[in-house]
Amino acid sequence: MVTGGAGFVGSHLCDRLLAEEGRVVAMDNLRHGRIANLAEARGYGKQFTFYNMDIRSEGLRTVFERHRPDVVMHLAAQASVTASVADPLNDAGVNVMGLLNLLEASAGAGVRKVVFAASGGTLYGEPRKLPVKESSRRGSRPVSPYGISKKAAELYLSFYRRTRDLDFTALALANVYGPRQDPSGEAGVIAIFAHRMISGQTPTIFGDGEQTRDFVFVDDTVHAFALASAPDRASGALLNIGTGVESTVNQVYRSLAKALTVKARPYYGPERSGEVRRIALDPTQAEAELGWRPWTKLDDGLRATAEAFRRAG
Ligand SMILES: NC(=O)c1ccc[n+]([C@@H]2O[C@H](COP(=O)([O-])OP(=O)(O)OC[C@H]3O[C@@H](n4cnc5c(N)ncnc54)[C@H](O)[C@@H]3O)[C@@H](O)[C@H]2O)c1
Repeated sequence: MVTGGAGFVGSHLCDRLLAEEGRVVAMDNLRHGRIANLAEARGYGKQFTFYNMDIRSEGLRTVFERHRPDVVMHLAAQASVTASVADPLNDAGVNVMGLLNLLEASAGAGVRKVVFAASGGTLYGEPRKLPVKESSRRGSRPVSPYGISKKAAELYLSFYRRTRDLDFTALALANVYGPRQDPSGEAGVIAIFAHRMISGQTPTIFGDGEQTRDFVFVDDTVHAFALASAPDRASGALLNIGTGVESTVNQVYRSLAKALTVKARPYYGPERSGEVRRIALDPTQAEAELGWRPWTKLDDGLRATAEAFRRAG
């Protein structure tokens, strides 16, 4: 079961699991996801089923009873920091109550394990040492409702593991980028830049562009989900899924402009509040527990993303 299966990361994950000859049930309320992202998955015929359903709905239990999934990859979320600040109630409705509805349905239907999409960008606040290790999250205080609900999720997952025999692995994702990322959101700087460059608009960099992020390619990310679905692997663990490498936004802008042969200089706008200055996630633990390591060099990933955005128009 892949929740958020019509979204950016979720749809790539469906493709990957289907290619491994798994049976996949995807669920998405299409709030941000797109049916078009599932074109490849649909080609797998009976191996693939899609439900246009909200994770908060009562019908969730019936779907779980019908399919009795072995593993749930939980990616459906209110995934915007800004939206969470504007409407904390809606954020918690999806990211907390939706999660609990999902965990109840999972425990009731005998699901073995939940692999959860946690947020490496909001979990640690402004880290003192980079790349940041998972142990730094103890005592961390996420500042946005999104960061808070994602952090609370790990505690709920631990509760269900202890009391309901439902195992989990939480993957703290860095800045994921790649084909199909929605360029109309506030996050996903690479998708936003690529879309604007291709359509002849000038991208805006907020701040001086020297802030750093850890960019991880979507194929590498879904590989981590696939590995984490194995029984007893990284049981009850939270693992960083990032490259450990800091890249500045200016650097990414230049590389992407080169890949798209665009010459325009960016606009610079005021810095956004609530954003960290520097972040990179240490992936050592994911290598030890999952045998996961990022493969894709940023320049190669940017080229692949640029080509996909160009093809998609
Ligand atoms: N992309 C990143 O850089 C990144 C970084 C850290 C964590 N994450 C997490 O990874 C997951 C996937 O992110 P993404 O970038 O693919 O985002 P996305 O918005 O493309 O995917 C999320 C999907 O969930 C669906 N959804 C939202 N609310 C729902 C609900 N109530 N019921 C059913 N479906 C619902 C949306 O329609 C969307 O398709 C999210 O949980 C996000 O918080 C992403």
